[in-house]
Amino acid sequence: MPLIEPTAEGIARCAAALRSGGVVAVPTETVYGLAADALSPAAVAEVFRRKGRPAENPLIVHVPSADAAAALAAEWPGEAEVLAAEFWPGPLTLVVPKSASVPPATTGGLGTVALRVPRHPVAQRLLAAAGIPLAAPSANRFGSLSPTTAEAVLEALGGEVDVLDGGPCEVGIESTVVDLCSRPARLLRPGRVGVPQLEAALAARVEVAPMGSPVAGPGMYARHYATAAPIHLVEELAGAEAGLGFGGPKSGLQVQMPSDPVRYAALLYSALRELDRLCPSHIAVESVPEGQEWDAVRDRLRRACQG
Ligand code: TXA
Ligand code: MG
Repeated sequence: MPLIEPTAEGIARCAAALRSGGVVAVPTETVYGLAADALSPAAVAEVFRRKGRPAENPLIVHVPSADAAAALAAEWPGEAEVLAAEFWPGPLTLVVPKSASVPPATTGGLGTVALRVPRHPVAQRLLAAAGIPLAAPSANRFGSLSPTTAEAVLEALGGEVDVLDGGPCEVGIESTVVDLCSRPARLLRPGRVGVPQLEAALAARVEVAPMGSPVAGPGMYARHYATAAPIHLVEELAGAEAGLGFGGPKSGLQVQMPSDPVRYAALLYSALRELDRLCPSHIAVESVPEGQEWDAVRDRLRRACQG
């Protein structure tokens, strides 16, 4: 049975598998991750293989605390200290110079490493039990939607992987990624932690990398989050078309989305999966409002629409 309940016994089993170089899908508050020992090139290679992920696309390393993060960094800047104190544990990833202990296989050959302390209680218990940093990209095949439930992981990766079941993810989209190796700090991927919050914590400006362009950072592909059916943005859903909208659904092929960006993000991937399962000719998505609080959702929708 590939679904594992997060009992003490289940967590101990997953921790043992990870310590001996295995791969386990694990819940975080953002999306499920496909975890392996971040310090083992062989374990990390297996993650790349199962995802079908290009080797130059760096992984995020999950640790139990800011101290554990600093231990994997060659340099732990003041900004990291401030952001860690403010947002960890939580949906924020910090890119800093890597220490020699982190193998190039984990960082796609880069001299920097992306670090995050997740706040999902099951992820925290697993990190404590495993006692090793866990490299964990989203637990999907490369280029497709990130899974936000244990069942979605099984659907995405087939029955071969063990999945620690932590229930549905609360945030629903991937963490905010901030590069602290450039001055000023640079947003590489928008997420639940927004630019205004980052700037308030740092009392400094945060530069926003142009989204969807290769210069945004390694692994920031214009096309991402793909469904089988092509997705496009519309002003308003037509009566018969499959899609996500804000108004009342006009057919069983339409999902009414929340008008609050946080709740919208939490539902986005599961709603797209649900529609995609019905094999529509295309999926239409009503454009979301302009405001900054919609940046993360708008970024995912833009990438999902690139054909
Ligand atoms: O919410 C999340 O971050 C989830 C959960 C599982 O923690 N993980 C996740 O991993 O989204 P993944 O592999 O799908 O996204 C990792 C991305 C890379 O594609 C890249 O854009 C950025 O994080 N990244 C990782 N290491 C980096 C580095 N050294 N420099 C710049 N960007 C990096
Ligand atoms: Mg991903």
